[in-house]
Amino acid sequence: MGNRVCELFGVRYPIVMGGISQLPELAAVVSDAGGLGCIAGATAPPKLLHERIRRYKELSDRPFAVNFPIVLTPEKDIEPKMQMMIDEQVPVVITSAGNPKLWTKFLQDGGCKVAHVLPTLYHAKKAVEAGVDAIIAEPAESGGYRGEHEVSMMVLIPAIRRAFPDVPVVAAGAVADGAGFAAVMALGAEGLQVGTRFIATVEANAPDHVQKLILAANDISTMSAEGRVKPRISKPDFAMEVLGERKQTQMGQVAALIDSIDPIADVMRELIEGGLATARRVHEELEELAGAEEAIAG
Ligand SMILES: Cc1cc2nc3c(=O)[nH]c(=O)nc-3n(C[C@H](O)[C@H](O)[C@H](O)COP(=O)(O)O)c2cc1C
Repeated sequence: MGNRVCELFGVRYPIVMGGISQLPELAAVVSDAGGLGCIAGATAPPKLLHERIRRYKELSDRPFAVNFPIVLTPEKDIEPKMQMMIDEQVPVVITSAGNPKLWTKFLQDGGCKVAHVLPTLYHAKKAVEAGVDAIIAEPAESGGYRGEHEVSMMVLIPAIRRAFPDVPVVAAGAVADGAGFAAVMALGAEGLQVGTRFIATVEANAPDHVQKLILAANDISTMSAEGRVKPRISKPDFAMEVLGERKQTQMGQVAALIDSIDPIADVMRELIEGGLATARRVHEELEELAGAEEAIAG
C-alpha cells in the first residue's frame, strides 16, 4: 500500500511544512524538494494573502497548503479567506487552534483537502466527526499550539492511530533528523509536519536572534507560553544568556537537536535517507534479538 499522506496531498514525500512562514518563496522551495510547502494565512489581509497564493503559483506547479489557526484569524477575514481557498483551488487547507466543524465541509465541497492540527485524542475525535481528510497531531514537545495539554508524541500518535485507523495521521514536530522521522513512522504516523527544523534553514533566512536561539538551545531551553493557544517558546532566562535580552521566540523542544543552518534540500535528504538508515539499523538489531530468543526457546 502506498503512503496515504503522499496520495492525499499529491507529494513525493509525506513531509509537510508547518505554518511557520507567510512567504510563498519558502513554501515553493519545500514543495520543489518533494514536500508540501505551506503559506501561513491567518494574519495577512485577504488581498495580500491572495497575492502570495498567486506568487506561489508562479514559482511552483506542485501542490501546496495554506494554514489558518482559526482563533488567530481576524473574524471579518475568515469567510473571504475560505472562499479564496476555493476560488484559487488551494490543494490543501490546514486548520488549527479552533473548531474543525466550522470550515471543513465548506472547503471540501469546494475541492480542497482539509487537515486539522490538534493536541489530544479528544480533539482528534472532533476532527474525525467533522470529516477531515487528515489529522496533524501536535504533541507537547512541538513548537506549535498545544493548548493546555501536554501529551507526548509517544502516546499521542499511537492513541490516535489506534482510535482512527482510517484517517491518515501526520506527526507535528519534535523531529530534526532521520531518526526522529523513522520514530514517528514507527509510532503509526504516515507523515511529518516540520516547524523549527525548517526555520533553521538557509532559505528561511530567519532573523539573527531566532537562528542564534535555535542553535544555542538545549533540552531545557523552551517552555509553554501563557495565553489561549500556548505555543512553545524560548525561556526568557535562556534568551537573556544568549542574546542579552529576554526575548520569547516560538520554537520546538527539538531545537536542542539542531546545530547548523542548512539548505532545505539537505534537511529533506536527512529526513528520508537518515530515516531509512535508522529503520534498517533498528530492523537488524531487533532481528538479532528475535534470533537470540529463538535460540533460547529452541
Ligand atoms: C515560529 C513558529 C510559528 C508557527 N506558526 C504556526 C501557525 O501560524 N499555524 C500553525 O498551525 N502552526 C504554527 N506553528 C507550528 C508549526 O506549524 C508546527 O506544527 C510545529 O512547529 C512543529 O513542531 P517543531 O517546531 O518541533 O517542528 C508555528 C511554529 C513556529 C516554531
